[in-house]
Amino acid sequence: MKSTNISINFTGKTSKKSDTIVILAKKEGALFDCGNDLDKEINGWISYNIDNTPKFEGNKKQSMVSSMPVDSQYNKLVVAGVGDVEKLEAKDIEVVGGNIYTAIKSIGSEEITVLVDGIGEYKADDVAARIAYGIKLASYKFDKYKSEAEDKEKEETLKKVNIQLSSFKDAYELYSELDCVVEGIFLSRNLTNEPANNLYPESYVKIIKEEMKGLDVSIEILDEKKMQKLGMEAIFSVGKGSVRQPRMVIMKYIGAGKKDAPIAFVGKGVTFDTGGISLKPGAGMEDMKIDMCGSAVVVGLMKTLASRKAKVNVVAAVGLAENMPSEHAYRPSDIIGSYKGKTIEVINTDAEGRLVLADTLSYVQKKHKPHTVIDLATLTGAMMVALGLDYCGVFSNDNDLWNEINQAGDKVGEKFWRMPLDKSYMNEIKSEIADIKNMGSKYGGACTAAAFLQYFIEDGVKWSHLDIAGVALGKKSSSLIPKGGSGGFGVRTLNQLIKDKYEVK
Ligand code: BES
Ligand code: MG
Ligand code: ZN
Repeated sequence: MKSTNISINFTGKTSKKSDTIVILAKKEGALFDCGNDLDKEINGWISYNIDNTPKFEGNKKQSMVSSMPVDSQYNKLVVAGVGDVEKLEAKDIEVVGGNIYTAIKSIGSEEITVLVDGIGEYKADDVAARIAYGIKLASYKFDKYKSEAEDKEKEETLKKVNIQLSSFKDAYELYSELDCVVEGIFLSRNLTNEPANNLYPESYVKIIKEEMKGLDVSIEILDEKKMQKLGMEAIFSVGKGSVRQPRMVIMKYIGAGKKDAPIAFVGKGVTFDTGGISLKPGAGMEDMKIDMCGSAVVVGLMKTLASRKAKVNVVAAVGLAENMPSEHAYRPSDIIGSYKGKTIEVINTDAEGRLVLADTLSYVQKKHKPHTVIDLATLTGAMMVALGLDYCGVFSNDNDLWNEINQAGDKVGEKFWRMPLDKSYMNEIKSEIADIKNMGSKYGGACTAAAFLQYFIEDGVKWSHLDIAGVALGKKSSSLIPKGGSGGFGVRTLNQLIKDKYEVK
């Protein structure tokens, strides 16, 4: 799956012709050294244009376009603001890259040259790599189902990005690591955008196998027969109503000492959630193709970590099922078993994600004995009601783990908010006739859902549950997330968490 055709090159100073020259400006439109040098070469053309564009103040997210003098090696000029240099963080430089992409899209250049200097504490090669990263992230598109070539072309013209800096050798190395993150995010976004007639448990398994080819990842696949044999009645029941049978995929990557316990990532992969017999209303149901987004983040993250050869041991597991109503479907009032051996009273077949996760979480803990488990799921509408579309809710039984996630998120620009785990939520989901039930009262739905998952977490395991329902829906776009491209939320944060916690030299 390829989602962008832009090639990135880092170069030294060159007299090669290219469509458009891009330079950066600080607050109040002041240029950096390389911009000033160019400005002198062309007799102050750039500063003249900046001075005559009163609204351009070099602020973050601002950009300015003008033509270049006829005898220049470039046709057009883009000046992109970086704002206050003192306050600049790595994630802001990436956003500048995204803004450059957007500015270029509006003028339709095919090849650009970006002039880069060091900015504050960030060296030129670091700035260069992060700008390239931002351009790539912003360039994501999902147009494989558009048959009109013309339509596709309208969207994107940019083919080649040259980033020019004095010593560019290290930029390649820095960028190659970030490019692994881009790959993981694009894989997540592609999986998330894929409609459910094409992405169902069996086809999903094929894609995972294909995507992990050539990487040091071993893959275990459980089909419906193995699930039944193992007593995984929770995930199996969710998939029963569909002709597409459920699957569980467990990926393992050993990048550190063979004996070290792994960290585990677990994702909800409901390839379509109709609600089942507790059918959802029709309006907006099409959104439920993204109900596998948690699993897509887990798969994308695995791709990133294995491609960049992260020094960590990771198990990544996804529970895949389609939640459909039919004469074979499980129903409200059913009492089902689970891999853990606990019985579950089904109150609502639309609370299916927690059932899928229960068995996936149990299996991963039993088989791989992770010290830490982080699960991601589009688990509840209640999470969206609570936090909206920008913040991801985090439930954690470990303060350090919460802090690590929150800090990693802050570094990369993904927002998290801690939510409560409490006995009272657990009490709400006690069943009169089984060990536990899959729904609480109408209040605190995200919290009772988390309590349900907690019931399946073993003593001594550090655990966080990320309810990504709001951030996964893709209703919002930003500098680095084009419309319809939000599917990768979490890849960047969790990759950062691994770097900061397990790979510090
Ligand atoms: N997949 C949904 C949650 C969801 C809703 C995700 C909207 C993204 C956008 C989940 O399976 C679900 O249906 N949850 C129910 C639980 C309820 C029946 C206890 C919900 O939130 O309404
Ligand atoms: Mg549901
Ligand atoms: Zn669901």
